[in-house]
Amino acid sequence: MTGASSGIGAEVARRLAEQGFKVIAVARRAEELSKLAAEATRGEIISAPGDVTDRAAMRDLVERIEREHGAIALAFLNVGTYFPDSDDDLGGDGFRKTFAVNLDGTVNLIGPLVRAMKVRGRGQIAVNSSVAGYGGLPQSIAYSSSKSALIVMCEALKFDLDKLGITIQIVCPGFVKTPLTDKNDFPMPFLISVEEAGARILDGFQNGGFEIAFPKRMAWLLKFINLLPYSAYFWLVGKTTGR
Ligand SMILES: NC(=O)c1ccc[n+]([C@@H]2O[C@H](COP(=O)([O-])OP(=O)(O)OC[C@H]3O[C@@H](n4cnc5c(N)ncnc54)[C@H](OP(=O)(O)O)[C@@H]3O)[C@@H](O)[C@H]2O)c1
Repeated sequence: MTGASSGIGAEVARRLAEQGFKVIAVARRAEELSKLAAEATRGEIISAPGDVTDRAAMRDLVERIEREHGAIALAFLNVGTYFPDSDDDLGGDGFRKTFAVNLDGTVNLIGPLVRAMKVRGRGQIAVNSSVAGYGGLPQSIAYSSSKSALIVMCEALKFDLDKLGITIQIVCPGFVKTPLTDKNDFPMPFLISVEEAGARILDGFQNGGFEIAFPKRMAWLLKFINLLPYSAYFWLVGKTTGR
C-alpha cells in the first residue's frame, strides 16, 4: 500500500490489518508509518519508508517484499498529491510534482507488480484516482489530468491483465476529509469521513468490480455532467464552481 502514512491510505491499512492481512505500508514519513504499525492489534502493518517517485527503489521494494514476506496478494496504489494551480506557473514545479507523484508514482510500482503476479497467474491491483479524473475541473489542471490518465491507464491495462488472471481496479472517491482536503478553501459537496471511504474501498476490494466510486451521488452526478455536450459541461461546471 502506497500513501499509507495518513488519510485514506492509513485508514485502509488499519482495516486490512484488522481483517488479518500483513500490510506493507509505504510513504516518506517513517515516524508516521511506525505509529501506524504500532496501532495494529490484529494482522500486521510493516513500515517501509520510501519515495514512490524513485523508480529503482520501488522496483527493489516489490522484489524485497516478495522475497521476505511472500507473494503480494493485493496492491493498493493509493499515493497522490494536490497543489492548487498557479496562474503564473502553469507547467511549473507544483504541476510537475503532481504528475511525478500521481502518475509516475503509480507506474513505478505497476510494472514490477505485474511481472511478479503474472508468473503466478493471480493478484489484485487497485489504483486510487478520483472523480476529478472524469473530466477537467477548475483549479485542478494538473490534478484532474493526472487522475484522468490513471483511469484511462487502468482501462487499457484491464484487457491484458484479465488474460493474465490479475484483477485491476480503479478507485474514484469524491471529497473525503483528510489532510489533503483540509487545505481546500472552497466548498466540498458530499464530503464524507475517512472511515466511510475506508469501508467503501474494502467492500470494493472484496467485490472485485472494475470501478470503486463513492459517494454514489457525487460519482453519478459527475459521470452525468461528463456525458453532456461540451457547451453545457463548461457552462454548468463554471456556474457551480463560480469560475
Ligand atoms: N481526500 C479526498 O477527497 C480524495 C478524493 C479523491 C481521491 N483522493 C486520492 O486519495 C489518495 C490519498 O489521499 P488522501 O486524501 O488520503 O491524502 P493524504 O492524507 O495527503 O495522503 C497522501 C499520502 O501520500 C503519501 N505521499 C505523498 N507523496 C509521496 C511520495 N513521493 N512517496 C511516497 N508517498 C507519498 C503521503 O505520505 P508522506 O507525506 O509520508 O510521503 C500520504 O501518506 C490520493 O491519491 C488522492 O488523490 C483523495
